[in-house]
Amino acid sequence: MQQLTRILLLLILALVYTGCGNGEGDDQRTDTREAEPELTEFELEHGIGPVTERLDIGDLNVERARRGADIFDRRCTACHRMGRRFVGPPLGEVTEMRSPEFLINFILNPEEMTNRHPVGQELLQDYMTIMPYQNVTKEQAIEIVDFLRYYAETGEDLRD
Ligand code: HEC
Repeated sequence: MQQLTRILLLLILALVYTGCGNGEGDDQRTDTREAEPELTEFELEHGIGPVTERLDIGDLNVERARRGADIFDRRCTACHRMGRRFVGPPLGEVTEMRSPEFLINFILNPEEMTNRHPVGQELLQDYMTIMPYQNVTKEQAIEIVDFLRYYAETGEDLRD
């Protein structure tokens, strides 16, 4: 009996979801994906992931940037260049477009950022690849952000 109630509930839910789709699109299953909960203001601006409030990462720290350069060299250069698109987007000016929190969330949670965040969805359409998580810690993500900030501010690539 309980089982039947559950099935009925699911049916009703399915009907409600498809009813919201304005009848657009042939494949109704895509409509349920669009019915994901909306993002908060914070998430829209600073990304979805472990960073849920503004972080004070302080001024650019060259020692931290050097450590970031090393990690970037090992974990990111397979897909990213500074000044041109490659497998992924160029990152030479990314710190001028996005907040540190956004970048840290992207680095730590790239799959959800690509699937659920409008910026990630747009990048996916353009690059046709989902960035895989590179197994970096939050500390290391901050170091990478400093490496990228250093590059954007001075034009100097600390890997050279
Ligand atoms: C296997 C390839 C690959 C690797 C390795 C990779 N990325 Fe990416 N990255 C991508 C692709 C493709 C995108 C754009 C599509 C998407 O959103 O997944 C992207 C997007 C990004 C973005 C978002 C750019 C923007 O405009 O907001 C950042 C930031 C980024 N990557 C940083 C990194 C860092 C830092 C590393 C190393 C820790 C790294 N990526 C490793 C493929 C990769």
